[in-house]
Amino acid sequence: MRRRIVAGNWKMNGTQSDASALVRAISVDLNRDSAVQVVLCPPFILIPTVATLLTGQQGIEYGGQNLDVHDHGAYTGEISAPMLRDFGCRYVIVGHSERRALYGDTDDLVAAKSRKALDSGLTPIVCVGESLRQREQNTTESVVGAQLDAVVAGVGSARCAEIVVAYEPVWAIGTGRSATPVQAQSVHRFIRDRLAAANDARAADIPILYGGSVKPDNASALFAEPDIDGGLIGGAALSAADFLAICHAAA
Ligand code: PGA
Repeated sequence: MRRRIVAGNWKMNGTQSDASALVRAISVDLNRDSAVQVVLCPPFILIPTVATLLTGQQGIEYGGQNLDVHDHGAYTGEISAPMLRDFGCRYVIVGHSERRALYGDTDDLVAAKSRKALDSGLTPIVCVGESLRQREQNTTESVVGAQLDAVVAGVGSARCAEIVVAYEPVWAIGTGRSATPVQAQSVHRFIRDRLAAANDARAADIPILYGGSVKPDNASALFAEPDIDGGLIGGAALSAADFLAICHAAA
């Protein structure tokens, strides 16, 4: 049975007091009996705040939104995997489309970051997804396939079973226009088949999350699809009530 995961990507939002209020509100009402693994990904500077509040709490983990491929050194402005581990992170988002589009994260760099995460004891949540233009040109599968193949080559086919994949169509992120459950399932199935080509024995165990305008009112239908194992949540992760409703939908 593969894990169900709901991860919140806070992006570059929040102060210390916002983060405290959000974590408190989520942890008070979270159903800890559910099998859903909840992961919070705050901005780096808010990780200590979140870590302090979550110490000793079951069913809820936290992680970074990015990492550098080096462990330490002259890399001004970057954060390394050992630093994330030092603060108790278990997860890290890798290859988010905003990083690919705005900060030059190529398929090869995403692969190297995924490998560094695994080597350091972090589970990478590897984001893949096509732009609207690519979808309209019917190249979704070749784009997503190439993004995935780079990561599988980087981490090795044996270890690709240790990653989490997030399918996030770029046109659905922050737009209020989610993929339909049928559209998302079709790409999730494609991703699972592609992973099976690399590691047939373990592909069925790899959680594949959907991200892109997941809200309380569309989460249940998306999560009901057989290859959608939870979500990577942006905007709705900043509201405790919405995020908890999405966690509930994944249970
Ligand atoms: P959204 O963002 O839920 O606000 O669309 C998802 C993401 O970027 O991970």
